[in-house]
Amino acid sequence: MKNRVNIAIFISGKGSNLKSLIKFSLLKNSPIKVKFIISNNSKAKGLIYANKYKLKKKTYNFKNSKITEVKLLKLLDRNNIKLICLAGFMKILSKNFIKKFKGKILNIHPSLLPKYKGLNTHERVIKNKEKFSGCTVHFVNHKLDSGKIVLQKKVKVKKNDSPSSLSRRILKEEHRLYPNALKKILLNP
Ligand code: GAR
Repeated sequence: MKNRVNIAIFISGKGSNLKSLIKFSLLKNSPIKVKFIISNNSKAKGLIYANKYKLKKKTYNFKNSKITEVKLLKLLDRNNIKLICLAGFMKILSKNFIKKFKGKILNIHPSLLPKYKGLNTHERVIKNKEKFSGCTVHFVNHKLDSGKIVLQKKVKVKKNDSPSSLSRRILKEEHRLYPNALKKILLNP
């Protein structure tokens, strides 16, 4: 597609959602171009995809998050980034940063928001004997996991599920959901 939207993907860990977004960006009619991978963790396994797909990457330790965010905003501006996709990014961005990128930051969360915001979602879902869980792509606002929902996918919780078996099944759905959410926003705005 012509006029693809430049995106930066922020990660902290394994990067399986990053990989699915990169693959999506390589499709002929994809509406996105992955311009940068940002991590707060230099050991994030997902950074291997930057080398594999020859994409630019940058790690910030966020020790002084104010200074880091100023640098980050400059980098995003220089690279003409129009949309940020958080993909397993475990740092909370400041209100100021979110304001500067208002309506242009997406996140994927492994639950059916507004239920189970925050960490350890699968453990809590199983403990509460929920019949369903799932994943959500939403816009990021100043409140944790609370911005406008773009898309959700329901996943059945099995009787003998452990947090890791449930997480694996949900992750598979996340890999479809994030590209679909981007299509929804960018192709039918
Ligand atoms: C994914 O399940 C994502 O939804 C979750 O972290 C995992 C990252 O996996 N994100 C959050 O919990 C954000 N609060 P990945 O590194 O393999 O994409």
